Amino acid sequence: MNHQTEERLYLYPVWIRIWHMMNALLCLTLIITGLSIQFANPNTVVKFNTAVSMHNIAGILLTISYVFFFTGNLFTMNGSHYVIPVKGFMIRMKNQFYYYTIGLFKKENAPYPVTEESKFNPLQQTTYVVLMYAMVPFVILSGWGLLYPDITIKSFVGFSGLDLTDLMHIFAGFTISIIMCVHIYFCTIGKNPLSNFKSMLNGFHESH
Ligand code: HEM
Repeated sequence: MNHQTEERLYLYPVWIRIWHMMNALLCLTLIITGLSIQFANPNTVVKFNTAVSMHNIAGILLTISYVFFFTGNLFTMNGSHYVIPVKGFMIRMKNQFYYYTIGLFKKENAPYPVTEESKFNPLQQTTYVVLMYAMVPFVILSGWGLLYPDITIKSFVGFSGLDLTDLMHIFAGFTISIIMCVHIYFCTIGKNPLSNFKSMLNGFHESH
């Protein structure tokens, strides 16, 4: 039985919603064009040359959008949601993992309900921190290294610097793509399957 009271919390300020919309569209464009480049053949969704140009432009725009996100988090309270408290980290992860795998299906209450002070649960927070402060910067930096091969290290322990940068870029791109699919699935776990998507449009999170 769920005893939480119904409430609406304003958690997603306009700048986060604009950034997120741009970021999602750019990542989708990068994934489609990236796959078209990786698996180029005459039948790919986007023709090779078009895919390369679109991928480069979307990558440059993603860099600008990332700087916007990074600066926003640095100078607004939104950044506080990305600070992971070290104490009790493993216990909190375990509790949330139990909820997602068992508790949720037994209709138990969420162990870390959404509040204004902490809008992300522990697993969600860790995923967002890894995504936004490791994977996205990694894909952007390796992308710039491929766009301007002259600035890329020539060789590293006998391997071509460009090949290694390419490998890192593909690894980061595929990882982000997988995290994005998981992210969208977890976004369906809300008051109803669409409520979290609505939050990203009107800024309000609805809880039970
Ligand atoms: C079509 C693709 C996407 C959809 C439908 C989507 C959906 C959502 C929704 C509904 C939320 C709000 C609920 C929540 O906080 O869990 C959210 C938040 C978030 N998403 Fe996405 N997302 C998409 C792509 C992405 C991508 C590609 C990234 C990063 C590379 C991303 C990063 C984030 C982050 C960091 C937040 C939290 C923002 C904040 O409040 O500070 N999303 N997303």
